[in-house]
Amino acid sequence: MNNNNKFFITTPIYYASGKPHLGHAYTSIACDVLARWNRDIGKEVFFLTGTDEHGQKIVENAEKINKSPKEFVDLMVPQFKQLLTKLNISNDYFVRTTDEDHKVFVSKMLQKAFDNGDIYKGSYEGLYCVGCEKYVEEDDLLEGNICPDHKKECETVSEENYFFKLSKYEDKLLKFYEETDFLKPKSKAQETINRVKEGLRDISISRSKDKLEWGIELPFDSTHVTYVWFDALFNYMSALENNDKMDFWPCNVHMIGKDIKWFHEVYWPAFLMSVDMQMPKSVFAHGMILDENGHKMSKSLGNVIDPLKFSKKFGVEEFKYFLITGGSFGEDMNFSEKMFIEKVNNELNNDFGNLVSRVHAMTSKPFSEGMPEIGELEDVDKELISSISIYEEFNSLMQNLEYTKAFTVLWTAIRDTNAYVNKVSPWAESDEKRLGTIMNVLCSACIYFGKYTNCIIPSKTELLFKQFNVKNNNKFEVEFLPAGHKLGAKENLFERIKLEKPAVEVEKPREGFAKLNLKVGQIDEVSKHPDSDKLYIIQVNLGNEKRQIVSGLQTLYTLEQLENRKVIVITNLKPAKLGGYDSNGMILACEDENDCGLLSSELDVGSNLKVGSDVADNEKIINSKAFKKVEMFGDENGKVSFSGKEVSGVSVDKKIPGKVC
Ligand code: ME8
Ligand code: MG
Repeated sequence: MNNNNKFFITTPIYYASGKPHLGHAYTSIACDVLARWNRDIGKEVFFLTGTDEHGQKIVENAEKINKSPKEFVDLMVPQFKQLLTKLNISNDYFVRTTDEDHKVFVSKMLQKAFDNGDIYKGSYEGLYCVGCEKYVEEDDLLEGNICPDHKKECETVSEENYFFKLSKYEDKLLKFYEETDFLKPKSKAQETINRVKEGLRDISISRSKDKLEWGIELPFDSTHVTYVWFDALFNYMSALENNDKMDFWPCNVHMIGKDIKWFHEVYWPAFLMSVDMQMPKSVFAHGMILDENGHKMSKSLGNVIDPLKFSKKFGVEEFKYFLITGGSFGEDMNFSEKMFIEKVNNELNNDFGNLVSRVHAMTSKPFSEGMPEIGELEDVDKELISSISIYEEFNSLMQNLEYTKAFTVLWTAIRDTNAYVNKVSPWAESDEKRLGTIMNVLCSACIYFGKYTNCIIPSKTELLFKQFNVKNNNKFEVEFLPAGHKLGAKENLFERIKLEKPAVEVEKPREGFAKLNLKVGQIDEVSKHPDSDKLYIIQVNLGNEKRQIVSGLQTLYTLEQLENRKVIVITNLKPAKLGGYDSNGMILACEDENDCGLLSSELDVGSNLKVGSDVADNEKIINSKAFKKVEMFGDENGKVSFSGKEVSGVSVDKKIPGKVC
């Protein structure tokens, strides 16, 4: 049983299918700050991270470089570990899903769930591309489920899989959400609750070995392996069990990005219920890092920031500070070099660094032989001390993962201290005894701040303690320096960063994507394709002309929902045949991880929404995966943009939950 003094925090285990990136660094840093804070306030902490190493993607990527899956992950994992070392992440363990003891644990859990009657054999249906010889996701395909590589329509194929009875846990989960603070942040909890209320379907948890071998063998059927979530989620427990640390269960915080919220908030507690384990205390789903234009970072957009290069150039702790405080933690966050430089210069260099540096200078000079006995405090001193005493507030914000607010509280205290310096003007103080008192108050305030900054900028904080010649005793009180105390040598905490040419080049989104002609249309008629359960044949009125467009919207919208609906159409595409029917244009939908909805507009039918100027052969662009997955964005306010160019007058239709287009 996890008593109050134990604290267990986890990152997701990252896919070892590619190099670690900024997003991975972000979550690890977010966990590190809380792990360090809790250690500093005296808790016993277990901080877990690791890698997810099974599944199809890893098999494919290994094949590309002629390696076995195991050889491949053995090449990738050191890069994830190196990132942790370079970022000075204080994890206590690194779990790999290919660890023998992890596999044994998962196998035990599978058997337990099976014995409880929660796993059964059923048939799985999915889209299959014969050319690729694999199951494909609908959102990797072109309209009409055409494979972009093989230009062929994919077939719906079924195979025997083992299923987990997720549906059985619907009511139990809803009750659990209601009775606990499991879903965090609270502001996003309702999304999950609503989706669960719509009903849960059982989920496939295995593949037959002749389709995929790279997974953990089912203990009750050696011809199948389990893959992805049943394997991955149990890392959080196998790592404890195999380190003899089960007394840290239940977990305090599973920190994740919102992209994998569903699996952690629904699958994970259901799996745990099935195997009779205690529920974790919370899952905290943070937002995603976006570039300065609000785009997802992606290789195809060329806006990816390499966490190692960036932190090497600008400083690891500056980088961490910005990630944790540069947005509103929990929400999506924009990341740009310019924002980074401004924040670091203002807050770390000006507010904090300058305070420490001038306090040190104004103390070490007159009192090089040691601090005098502290005199009586005046009201102005007492006011400062009371205003910077922030422990309760700071700690409760931290435990609630409200990092941005917590550090705002701290920085307000730092700014109050700067204001105090100006008010009491030590440089004009002629009474040496009073000066001694003032400087003692100020040195003690700086040392006090170090106790809070230690969780986010630990090595800078060490320099702070060193120059005041004290050790961090983790007592969250303003403690005056004793008479005779001598300061250490001056240390420079931060350098002002000059805003010059960006040192880390961030490639601009490619222009070609902007050369699209968009028009507001209205659906006149819509009918089902005679041989497809995906395609609709749609007649669209574009004001001055009518067009037929074939679109794969059957799984998302009923005929009635589409009739008379306003839509946005890309008009400058080469006409094509889809499912044997002429299709002249493309109706735009917008997607995120879970939802998909048509774009719409308040503007009149026929209005032009041209984004760029050139009419180009856009076929290549439209056919690229990147276009479907990345180039089109609709935000929560309904704003829509293409490659950073906002399209005014367009909004995203109400999303349809639970579907991916
Ligand atoms: O999903 N902004 O692994 P993954 C912020 N193996 N965080 C981001 C991010 C971004 N742009 N991109 C990624 C998996 N992340 C599974 C997890 S857990 C049992 C299995 C972070 O390599 C964020 O924490 O795709 C996100 O949830 C995670 O990386 C996904 O990592
Ligand atoms: Mg992912």
